[in-house]
Amino acid sequence: MNVLLTGGCGYIGSHVAVVLMSEGHDAVIVDNLSNSRREVVDHIAQIVGRPPTFYQGDVGEFEFIRDVIRRHRIDSVIHLAGFKSVGESVQRPLQYYQNNVCGALGLLHAMEAESVSSLVFSSSATIYGDPQYLPVDEAHPQHVINAYGRSKLHIEDMLRDICISRPSLGVICLRYFNPVGAHPSGLIGDRPNGIPNNLMPYVVQVACGERDFLSVFGGDYRTPDGTGVRDYIHVMDLAEGHVAALNYLSTNNGWHAFNVGTGRGYSVLEMIRAFEGESGRAIPYKITARREGDVACSYADIRAAALELNWKATRSLEDMCSSAWRFQSRLSKA
Ligand code: NAD
Ligand code: UFG
Repeated sequence: MNVLLTGGCGYIGSHVAVVLMSEGHDAVIVDNLSNSRREVVDHIAQIVGRPPTFYQGDVGEFEFIRDVIRRHRIDSVIHLAGFKSVGESVQRPLQYYQNNVCGALGLLHAMEAESVSSLVFSSSATIYGDPQYLPVDEAHPQHVINAYGRSKLHIEDMLRDICISRPSLGVICLRYFNPVGAHPSGLIGDRPNGIPNNLMPYVVQVACGERDFLSVFGGDYRTPDGTGVRDYIHVMDLAEGHVAALNYLSTNNGWHAFNVGTGRGYSVLEMIRAFEGESGRAIPYKITARREGDVACSYADIRAAALELNWKATRSLEDMCSSAWRFQSRLSKA
């Protein structure tokens, strides 16, 4: 299959590219490198043994995307390109709507013009807001509380409408929980620009001495140890979930949404301990005030993906931590 991967140089997209290409598919990456580096393309090639096709450009540019789709006879699209920082989206909502929603619109117009009828979209568990019950299933009410989440929900809703108007179209919205870890080679991984917002990249930077300590945001949540609980999923499991989604779309049309998690939550302190165990490094931390917008506990009901996509996460917490550490150690040596 010829698959267009938007945002394929990013953290998740690069792992999806590796898994897709390893299974014999051809990956065509479009990325404007606003949050990634060109060298990722070489690292993907090094892992897989052949290079993906790469275009530097914006997913919202209709003519450009249409031309890529036509030239490479694209069968399916995996749309990962977008901005993803919750905090930044509160400060700069227009940029988030512009890049995420308008970007998706440009892509969708191009897909329609070229009759591409299969799309996997990177959505987020953030659209559920503060869980009213656990585990969170796909029918959970949606209570977005920031522009990032709302941009994801707008796109999900647009996709629903488009599926009604074009019955031949098949769309899967994958609602990611908390992707962490890296490819076992240590060649690709999570490498955010600037100060990391997310827990795991911050922890690895503390472990290698780039930062003095981790601020644990809140120690008084109603959770077993008082710190926030999340459903961390290995990025390689997540990447494999995308291939399962594409396979599903080869025989199913219409709009679908699936949670992508492990179904198990870990607290911040459990994550610190697991990481210390795998890296052999101490992670100094201080419990500080809660971060605005954080929920106490969130983990996924994963039955729908297991049943429909025939996919389940298999990698352990230890694997998530050791692979993240391997990636960071290689970066630190470079
Ligand atoms: P990332 O920032 O590492 O990757 C996104 C990639 O998209 C980057 O390479 C960036 O340069 C590119 N990009 C951004 N806007 C673009 C545009 N207009 N045109 C072309 N390229 C563009 O992020 P990630 O963690 O790999 O996330 C991928 C997707 O998954 C995003 O849509 C994100 O919202 C979603 N998601 C991520 C998480 C997470 O915790 N990482 C959780 C839920 C959902
Ligand atoms: N945390 C800390 N210190 C930090 C960073 C995070 O204590 O320096 C805590 C948070 O308070 C939370 C947990 O670690 O309890 C996880 O926080 P992350 O920022 O890693 O992840 P979030 O659950 O807040 O959000 C992530 C992505 C969103 C996505 C969501 C889906 O950032 O884009 O998962 O569940 F939508």
